[in-house]
Amino acid sequence: MSELDIDFYESEDPIWNPALHTMPVPGIRRMVNLAATMDDVIHLSIGQPDFKPPDHVVQAAVEALQAGQTGYTMDAGLPELLEALADYYRNRYQRPLVPENIMVTTGATEAIYLALTATSAPGREFIVPEPAFMLYAPLIRMNGGVVKAIPTHAEQHHQLDPEAVIDAIDNNTCAIVLNSPSNPTGTLYPRETVEAIVQEAAYRGVYVISDEVYDHLVYDGREYPSVLSCCADLDHVMVVSSFSKTFSMAGMRIGWLMASQGAIKKLRRYHMFTTTVANTPCQWAGVAALSGDRGFVDNMLAEYQRRRDRLVELVERTPHLTGYRPEGAFYLFPSLPEGVNGGNVALKLLRETGVCTVAGDTFGESCSNAIRISYSTSLEQIEAAFERIIPWMAKQDF
Ligand SMILES: Cc1ncc(COP(=O)(O)O)c(C=O)c1O
Repeated sequence: MSELDIDFYESEDPIWNPALHTMPVPGIRRMVNLAATMDDVIHLSIGQPDFKPPDHVVQAAVEALQAGQTGYTMDAGLPELLEALADYYRNRYQRPLVPENIMVTTGATEAIYLALTATSAPGREFIVPEPAFMLYAPLIRMNGGVVKAIPTHAEQHHQLDPEAVIDAIDNNTCAIVLNSPSNPTGTLYPRETVEAIVQEAAYRGVYVISDEVYDHLVYDGREYPSVLSCCADLDHVMVVSSFSKTFSMAGMRIGWLMASQGAIKKLRRYHMFTTTVANTPCQWAGVAALSGDRGFVDNMLAEYQRRRDRLVELVERTPHLTGYRPEGAFYLFPSLPEGVNGGNVALKLLRETGVCTVAGDTFGESCSNAIRISYSTSLEQIEAAFERIIPWMAKQDF
């Protein structure tokens, strides 16, 4: 743990809102901090694309800056970007979206923050499949909401049983949080799963908050079953996405939220009191990304798929790891034998081999016997990492 982590998490200073205790010491940060003190580390811990964004996208941001596009945009977002997003989703899912259904945010992170903290309140329950991206539970708990976790397992490829979700709905349920393809599992939910959950949720008056940042990182030519293509109307859905993963623009911080016009009106007010507007030149870069050709995305997908295929083989050959074939994103979340602590394994693996992964319990309490492996790094690095991991695992006596 770095000094900064200790200050933040263990300070007795009464100034801090006790709600900050809902935010755990990020497991990723802890590993990366330790790795930074070591030589010859191979990172399988990265959560952002390792590609350069397309040139025309970077150029659009530069030109926007040079043209003096340095002021605030409208609070909902740059009109040109809202129009381009509405157009894009209309064509992709044949859904009559208009700019008033969309709000541009500072990455998907802000959209998730707004959606969860604007709905969470004491006594309200949120159903969250586990393992889950680590933002959701703290944001729900920070405002007094309760997380009802639905564990998924490597043996079932971390697929979600829609009946388990539906059975968990009760009178206190406020929303269901979905994230497909998932960080940290890479699992893509089939259309039947998404439809069953979205339809039951609408019938019961429960929201579905869908984090779709990996909506383009889907392999084997599969079609992407977005919540937007599974709902009868937008009355009970909030769909979040961003340019971060699709166009390798994570640091440019442009995301968005799509919902009913009424929900967007409410969230716009909250957005004004949170970040005011998203970054203006990078919104212009977003317009360029949507209007450019798909070559960049197709090449990136082909490369991720090649890495995914090789990683699945390597995990299969690794003693003590149970893997599966993820259909999206750039993660695999293999399990260790029952009762083995993934946090200890990840730490020991880093110390003894210099391979940095992320402990499973970063993504929920039910995932302690797992590690997250990211393949957002070159095939050469993946091969080199497993040349260390396989013999090391063979020596472990779990
Ligand atoms: C599932 C998921 N949602 C949201 C985000 C954040 O995306 P953004 O960079 O657009 O804020 C990430 C980033 O790793 C993610 O994995």
